[in-house]
Amino acid sequence: MNLQYPVLLNIIFLICVHSVANHRMEFTNVKCTTLDKEFSDFEYCYLKAANRTYKYLSLKVRLFKVPVHQFSMNVAFHKRSNGLFPINHNITFDGCKMVADNGSPWISFLYGVIKEYSNINHPCPYDHDVIVDKLPAQFLKQRFSSLLPFPEGDYVFNSNWMAYGINRANVRLHFSYT
Ligand SMILES: *[C@@H]1O[C@H](CO)[C@@H](O)[C@H](O)[C@H]1NC(C)=O
Ligand SMILES: *[C@@H]1O[C@H](CO)[C@@H](O)[C@H](O)[C@H]1NC(C)=O
Repeated sequence: MNLQYPVLLNIIFLICVHSVANHRMEFTNVKCTTLDKEFSDFEYCYLKAANRTYKYLSLKVRLFKVPVHQFSMNVAFHKRSNGLFPINHNITFDGCKMVADNGSPWISFLYGVIKEYSNINHPCPYDHDVIVDKLPAQFLKQRFSSLLPFPEGDYVFNSNWMAYGINRANVRLHFSYT
């Protein structure tokens, strides 16, 4: 066996880890919009910086028509650029089947976030308000950079939350990766 291969792989690995570790992800803006006030409304939705390295997202959605037996999510992810390097992902999936659906790395990624930082980390139905509690930019950075090669820039993460086929809410998160 040729010894140079493992050495080379180690070097590449170290370079990758090094470059990810040296990058910063910053949430720059979040906007939560209710599309159906009779179904749900945001009680709060904000970014907060505890200090230079710890910035997080918190939100709370009040659900008025519980229990909710079905929801789906449409998630679109764009790099803001002059169209030179578009990373465009736009997927829709059944939220109630998210736990079982591990076929897509994107769904696993989203479920990884939801599992750790929200209270919809259990099977449907949901008969309570939805909370995302202090989701740190750093956590997203780590999960995200293991998902795909990640060029520097400004990004928009746009999500539509649909229940029974009707779009009820939109959450739009802007972040930078530098
Ligand atoms: C930032 O705040 C978090 C939470 O309060 C704390 O754990 C962390 O040590 C702080 N980091 C710095 C650099 O002060
Ligand atoms: C994502 O795809 C859906 C369905 O095709 C479309 O309605 C929506 O506008 C797209 N979202 C973005 C941000 O491109």
